[in-house]
Amino acid sequence: MGAKSCHNFGDFRALAKRRLPGPIFHYIDGAADDEITYRRNTAAFDDCDLVPNVLNDVAEVDMGVEVMGQKLAMPVYCAPTALQRLFHYVGERGVAAAATKYGTMYGVSSLGTVSVEELAAMAPGPKMFQFYFHKDRGLNDALLERAKAARFDVMALTVDTITGGNRERDLRTGFTSPPRLTLNSLVSFATHPMWALNYLFREKFDLPHLSDHVSTGTNLATSIGDYFSTMLDQSMNWKDAENLCAKWGGQFALKGIMSVADARRAVDIGCTGIMVSNHGGRQLDGSRTPFDQLAEIVDAVGDRVDVVCEGGIQRGTHILKALSVGAKACSGGRLYLYALAAAGQAGVERALGNLRTEIERDMKLMGITSLSQLSRDNLRFRRS
Ligand code: GLV
Repeated sequence: MGAKSCHNFGDFRALAKRRLPGPIFHYIDGAADDEITYRRNTAAFDDCDLVPNVLNDVAEVDMGVEVMGQKLAMPVYCAPTALQRLFHYVGERGVAAAATKYGTMYGVSSLGTVSVEELAAMAPGPKMFQFYFHKDRGLNDALLERAKAARFDVMALTVDTITGGNRERDLRTGFTSPPRLTLNSLVSFATHPMWALNYLFREKFDLPHLSDHVSTGTNLATSIGDYFSTMLDQSMNWKDAENLCAKWGGQFALKGIMSVADARRAVDIGCTGIMVSNHGGRQLDGSRTPFDQLAEIVDAVGDRVDVVCEGGIQRGTHILKALSVGAKACSGGRLYLYALAAAGQAGVERALGNLRTEIERDMKLMGITSLSQLSRDNLRFRRS
C-alpha cells in the first residue's frame, strides 16, 4: 500500500507504522499515562452531532478563514511539532512546502530539525514559530530574534510542558533524541532499512535552533520528557509570558490553554490568539479535551482573541464541529505527521488534500457556502 491509497488518518497511521522503526512510531503515536485523554480528544467529537440544512445552492463553497491575522485557504493548519526529520528525511521542508501549496499555515518547533531561515526562504506562506521557554535566557533571546528576523508571522508560546508528561511507550522503547542505539532499537532500525539508510547517510540529525546553545537533544541523547523537565524553566509565569508577548510585538498565542481563567489572562497580557490544546494528550492524562472545553472559552474570550481548537482532529466534520462552537480554525500534529512518515511531502499534500476534499463535501452536505454560516444552532450535544 502506498500513500495514494491512504484515504484517511487511519490509513496514514497504518502506513507510518510499517515504515518507521518502533521507537519512532510510538513517539508520535503515544501519549501520557493510560492515554485516556489522547483517545478522548477524538472521541469527544462523537458526542456531538451536526444538523444539516438543505436546498441552499452550494455549487460554490469558500472554506477560507482568517486567524491571528493570517488568511488561510482552509480552516486547519499544521501545528508545530518536534523532530520531523526523524520521521522522514525531508522533515519540516516537506511539511512547510505542502502547507504553503495548500494555502495554510505551518508551525516550526523550537525542537525543529530544519532552521527557520531555510524554511522561511523556501516556504513563504503563513508560518508560526513555537517557543519553549528555556532556563537558558540567552537561548530564549536567540530563539525570539531568529524567528523575528526570519519574519515568522505568529509566535506561539507552549504553556503545557512545564514538566515532561509520562510517556510510557517512550520509556518502554527507550526513544531518545537523537535516537540511541540500544539492542532493542538496533533490531527495529535493521528491520526498517530504508529509514535507517536515510537516517545514517543523509543530512546529520540536528536541532538547529538549540544546538549552538545546548548539547542535550543533539549530541547528548535525551527523552523528550526529560528535555522538558530539565531544560525548560519551571518558574515560567504570566509575567514571563507577557514580557515575551511584548518583545515579540506581533501576533502572539499561548498554546495549551484549557481554562477560562487562563484564557482571560491571555487576553489581559496582549495575546491575539489562544490554542486550546492538551498537547495531543501527551502531558496531563485525565485532563479535559479541547473540543469539550471550547464553548466555555469561546463564550468568555471569543470576541477578543482568535480561539483555535487543537487536538484529536482526524476528519473534516471534526473541524466543522469546532468551528460551529466558535473556533476560528483548527490545528493538529498527528493529522500530518503520520502522512509525513508514510510518504514525505507527497504524503502531507495528500493528507491536506483529503481534509480539503472532506471539508468541501461536508460544507455542501451541511448546506453552507461559507464557514461563517456555521453556529451552535447546527449542533446537538448528546447527553451521556
Ligand atoms: C513535543 O512537543 C512532544 O510532545 O513530544
